[in-house]
Amino acid sequence: MCAPLVVGNWKMHGSLAANRALLGALVAGVQGVESAVCVPFPYLAQAAERLKGTAIAWGAQNVSEHAQGAYTGEVSAAMLTEFGCRYVLVGHSERRQIYGETDAVAAAKFAAAQGAGLRPIFCIGETLAERDAGRTEEVVARQLDAVLGRCKFGDAVLAYEPVWAIGTGRTASPEQVQAVHGFLRKRMSAATRILYGGSVKPDNAAAIFALPDVDGGLIGGAALVAKDFIAICGMAQRKG
Ligand code: 13P
Repeated sequence: MCAPLVVGNWKMHGSLAANRALLGALVAGVQGVESAVCVPFPYLAQAAERLKGTAIAWGAQNVSEHAQGAYTGEVSAAMLTEFGCRYVLVGHSERRQIYGETDAVAAAKFAAAQGAGLRPIFCIGETLAERDAGRTEEVVARQLDAVLGRCKFGDAVLAYEPVWAIGTGRTASPEQVQAVHGFLRKRMSAATRILYGGSVKPDNAAAIFALPDVDGGLIGGAALVAKDFIAICGMAQRKG
């Protein structure tokens, strides 16, 4: 079993003032478990300054597949390392669905991040239509194979986030989570952390983290509420 990891994905939320309060509360309250926050690009400097020397790591939510050049609006992996990022989310379903990121682009971003020394948190997951059609394993395997066909997974983190459970309050049941995590575990080294994400809250985190092939969580909405994120981290800690 891997040491648990709890990652907050702030998505496009926050302000300098709100972040100051949230980061301060997390520094005071998160203990005994590896944790990180993935913040919007403009707040990386703030996260770096506030979290440096603490047990909480930080990262970004996206990265360019290119090293540098005429790519207006993009941010390179090397730039993220200058802000002390350890992690970067790659292939989040919102990037895939809203911005049309393909498996190939997600894999190229993974390679760029890893090449710069970042740890990608590689997100995969099926839509409700895909689940209802019995295609969950096929979809997550295809998304994962895009990376494994190109890179070694190394110390990257895998995150299973069923699209239908993200931001909906509809968490996958423990049986559904374990079924997919067990399937993924067979394809990964025992040392690879496999996180679950999708409406993880203080009232369901313990049951999810207790599953044999779940090594922590990727938390959206509840990561914006200090007491909720701290409580969720506490539940992961009990597993470790
Ligand atoms: P919620 O926890 O808000 O469902 O978001 C999950 C997620 O997308 C984390 O990356």
